[in-house]
Amino acid sequence: MTNRKKLTLGLFGFGCVGKGLYDVLNQTTGIQANIKKICVKHKDKLRPIAMEHFTFDKNELLEDNEIDIIIELIDNADDAFEILEKALQKGKAVVTANKKMIAEHLPEILTLQSKYNKPILYEGASCGSIPIIRNLEEYYDNELLDIVEGIYNGTTNYILSKMFNENRTYADVLKDAQKLGFAESDPTLDVEGYDTKSKVVINNFHAFGVISHPNELFNYGIQNISIHDIRFAKEKNLKIRLLASTKKYDKELVCFVMPQFVDKSNPLYFIEDEYNAVMLQGVFTENQLFKGKGAGAFPTASAVLSDISALTYNYSYEFKKHYQNLDFFINQSKKLKVYFRYKEEKSIEAIQMQNIEVSYKSEDYKYVIGEVNLSNLINNKALKNPDVFIGLLSVK
Ligand SMILES: NC(=O)c1ccc[n+]([C@@H]2O[C@H](COP(=O)([O-])OP(=O)(O)OC[C@H]3O[C@@H](n4cnc5c(N)ncnc54)[C@H](OP(=O)(O)O)[C@@H]3O)[C@@H](O)[C@H]2O)c1
Repeated sequence: MTNRKKLTLGLFGFGCVGKGLYDVLNQTTGIQANIKKICVKHKDKLRPIAMEHFTFDKNELLEDNEIDIIIELIDNADDAFEILEKALQKGKAVVTANKKMIAEHLPEILTLQSKYNKPILYEGASCGSIPIIRNLEEYYDNELLDIVEGIYNGTTNYILSKMFNENRTYADVLKDAQKLGFAESDPTLDVEGYDTKSKVVINNFHAFGVISHPNELFNYGIQNISIHDIRFAKEKNLKIRLLASTKKYDKELVCFVMPQFVDKSNPLYFIEDEYNAVMLQGVFTENQLFKGKGAGAFPTASAVLSDISALTYNYSYEFKKHYQNLDFFINQSKKLKVYFRYKEEKSIEAIQMQNIEVSYKSEDYKYVIGEVNLSNLINNKALKNPDVFIGLLSVK
């Protein structure tokens, strides 16, 4: 049996995930880990546990030599990176669920881990409770993956499921999702695909060894979806899913976040409500699907707990695919076959659509099906227009 260390933790953040982790640690018996102090931001906030557990001074945790591990669960990516850097300098391992921070700092993370020789683990930053990062690192370390694709955001999948299954409008379901706590009061990061894109960057790094900055990749969300688009999907026996997609063509990776029409042959067709799923296609394994809760206090805390547990046997990421120098690169100029709903003809010109094979026009609903180049979609202002919606039919 492995001789497991007893750990002393310093926790940053006591919101949804931080409090979740506190509760999970109190209920689990397998890990010997004790939270010594919790650092939070707002002095006047009421806390669900005694104030003696808290501090507002980050150095109280970072300078404490008894603390072996910093658990970073705050909602600010810049502050989180500062905490990470300082913790490593002080000889502490770091566990974080901060996808934005990780996705924006992958080169620094590689350097910091080797410079200070302390692990940085972030399973909760990818798809919440779905154990994808460690599987990509360990199980698929020698597998040649062709596709990593999935539903990485529960809020948007919940909205799409309800619109489809209950014939409700986007605005109506969003309001509902906000009441139920599935959507933030400002839902931009979720519904426009930014949250998903951070996860794509992290998964690409562990699946293909490729580092990219989130700003380099295309994301388009579901904020403009209408009941017309859902009806179109239903008529064709399809569903719309906001998919994160990375597909390998020889050395090229074609990678984006956008709504896609999927049919019953795609396992992601059956993923409903707030569930996430990651589908992997390997040369030897063929298709595999991981399904689970991608967010929420306990599901995310369970991923953080698993990282803490891994530290008890001195686990750290070896970034195996990255150091295999596989030479994959991101190709942003692939042709896509898309459905495009629009109001004014100039929108079609703005995305430089070609080879239009279907054009439908009625008084209140117009769409075309044709080909666009991915490079013409990136940063294209026409897609900000609330009167348009674009969905992928296939990669050409
Ligand atoms: N919520 C989810 O389901 C989920 C899922 C996966 C990953 N994550 C990630 O987990 C992290 C935490 O998310 P959350 O939903 O738990 O956030 P949250 O509920 O908004 O809580 C954020 C916590 O961070 C504290 N905080 C903010 N800035 C701080 C600073 N500079 N120093 C110390 N404490 C600071 C806040 O302090 P106060 O209490 O004083 O305001 C609060 O306790 C984020 O990176 C998020 O992306 C969340």
